[in-house]
Amino acid sequence: MIEIAPSILSADFARLGEDIAKVERGGARMLHVDVMDGHFVPNITLGPPVVKSLRKVTRMQLDVHLMISDADRYAGAFIDNGADLVSVHQEACPHLDRTLNMIRGAGAQAGVVINPSTPVATLVDVLDVADFVLIMSVNPGFGGQKFIPRALDKVRALAAMRRERGLDFKIEIDGGVTLENMPAIIRAGCDWLVAGATVFGCEDPAARVAEMRRIAEEVQTVRV
Ligand code: DX5
Ligand code: ZN
Repeated sequence: MIEIAPSILSADFARLGEDIAKVERGGARMLHVDVMDGHFVPNITLGPPVVKSLRKVTRMQLDVHLMISDADRYAGAFIDNGADLVSVHQEACPHLDRTLNMIRGAGAQAGVVINPSTPVATLVDVLDVADFVLIMSVNPGFGGQKFIPRALDKVRALAAMRRERGLDFKIEIDGGVTLENMPAIIRAGCDWLVAGATVFGCEDPAARVAEMRRIAEEVQTVRV
């Protein structure tokens, strides 16, 4: 089942509750929450209190993407406040195996993220302790950037590794996802598509999510 995960980075933070109600109405079952610390990436966003508030107003799964230098220190606080999925960057975690196990142990699904410049090969030894892998298709830090096509090769490579090793982690993509490129992303083997500007940058986010889910359904029928 393909999931569309709207990213609140492109929502109106003064009307966050209303904005996320719209995407939930459109059929989204996952909400992507970007956490930035102004250190690992050149931008600052939000922390555990916002996740706590989101948890109270939605049934969607909260997919918390940690773009922070010290994920070991803060991941637990996000899980305690309601995160269902937590992903950490390979580039920021020297003890990735331990970090992923810690997230799982705290009761969330554990994801590992790689930047556009990081090869898929760096993940071979943690794929069996990850519930999902997030491929960045832009350099993290900002919404509304252009999709880096090379990310598709990485999704294909990862999907092949998953098949060969009989693993069942999900593959997520983040950055520059549009109505136009989503069929190619799904055909490459991606399961979850994050979308910020494409969803919240349009007039009717509910209708946009519904449209993306319909496209995903069509492409998937052909893929299977
Ligand atoms: C970028 C974030 C993304 C961002 C995607 O650092 O990780 O989740 O919100 O936004 P779009 O879909 O607009 O590229
Ligand atoms: Zn993200």
